[in-house]
Amino acid sequence: MPVSGCTMFRVMPLLPLLNTGLGFQLCPSRCLCYESSDLVDCRSRGLVRVPPSVPHGTWLLDLCGNKLTEVHTRSFVGLWSLRILLMSNNSIQSLQPQSLASLQFLERLDLSFNQLRWLPQDFSQSLSSLQELQLDHNLLLHLDSFSLGDFQNLKKLDLSHNRIRTMDVGAFSSLSRLSLLNLEGNRLNVLTDGLLSRQQSLEVLLLSHNNISLIETEALAPLRSLTLLGVRGNQLEHIRFKTILKLQTTTTHLQMSFNRWTCDCELQRNFAKIRHVRHLHVDDYKDIICHAPAQQAGSFLASLDSQLCIAETASMLVITITVMLAVIGTLVKAEYNRKKNMQTVSEEDSERQER
Ligand SMILES: *[C@@H]1O[C@H](CO)[C@@H](O)[C@H](O)[C@H]1NC(C)=O
Ligand SMILES: *[C@@H]1O[C@H](CO)[C@@H](O)[C@H](O)[C@H]1NC(C)=O
Repeated sequence: MPVSGCTMFRVMPLLPLLNTGLGFQLCPSRCLCYESSDLVDCRSRGLVRVPPSVPHGTWLLDLCGNKLTEVHTRSFVGLWSLRILLMSNNSIQSLQPQSLASLQFLERLDLSFNQLRWLPQDFSQSLSSLQELQLDHNLLLHLDSFSLGDFQNLKKLDLSHNRIRTMDVGAFSSLSRLSLLNLEGNRLNVLTDGLLSRQQSLEVLLLSHNNISLIETEALAPLRSLTLLGVRGNQLEHIRFKTILKLQTTTTHLQMSFNRWTCDCELQRNFAKIRHVRHLHVDDYKDIICHAPAQQAGSFLASLDSQLCIAETASMLVITITVMLAVIGTLVKAEYNRKKNMQTVSEEDSERQER
């Protein structure tokens, strides 16, 4: 579970300097304003909209656990100093155009645990300083090529636990500084070539608990910095060695259990090859359980290692023997014919001599 931003104040033993004491500075009526540190705490106050009169110098605004359903245009106008905006655990269904437009110095935005189904196309516009974005636990269905388009400085993107099934191939093409991408718990079917073509800085890619049955051949090739690839709990039946070998990294840990692995000789060989590559580590190899064929279902791949290729070895042996027998047969026949011919020749010779 991600740690919700709502917990932040608990570790800060600050006393609120209430609006009463400090004269002119305004504070929204239901919030606590910690003026010495420019924090405004509006957590769980039953708010249905972003309160007006948040002090202009506010550095952190916490609106977690309220009843916001929408973020209106110009909700945050004038808050030039805002660096952290926490709106987790509301019921936000839509962000109106330009609703975040004045927040050009914002570094962290938490919109987790809301009900967003889509992101507006101008979502990232003017949020060019953003480094961390939490959109987990929403209802997002699709990522287009526009909505994340201006997040040049984004380092951490959490899109886990949505309903994302499809992503435009350019969805992440502006995010060249991204180091963590969490897409766990969505409905993705395939990891496509080109989707991560700009993610040379990506260190952690979390794709567990999706519906992925295919990682395309070039999909992982651009990820030069990847240290962790999580694809647990998907629909993978096979894995191609070539695809994984495209990870030209220093060290990459792979987490691959709980898929629909078809345990045949090829799978066993591909895993053996992957595990022989020095910079690749399958962390949960011991937990990889076969889904098919029926006679192997439920067995640990590691426990079958030497067996899976026996059938293949046996059939290779049969083929080899068959070929050898055929060759021998041909040779024997040739020899027989040669002898027979010689015999005929010598018989003819002796006949000729007799005459
Ligand atoms: C969301 O807010 C409600 C009410 O404020 C609270 O009871 C609940 O624990 C919060 N949930 C999360 C995930 O923070
Ligand atoms: C999951 O993937 C399978 C193919 O592996 C497909 O038949 C099925 O429709 C997918 N399910 C969803 C919910 O996308």
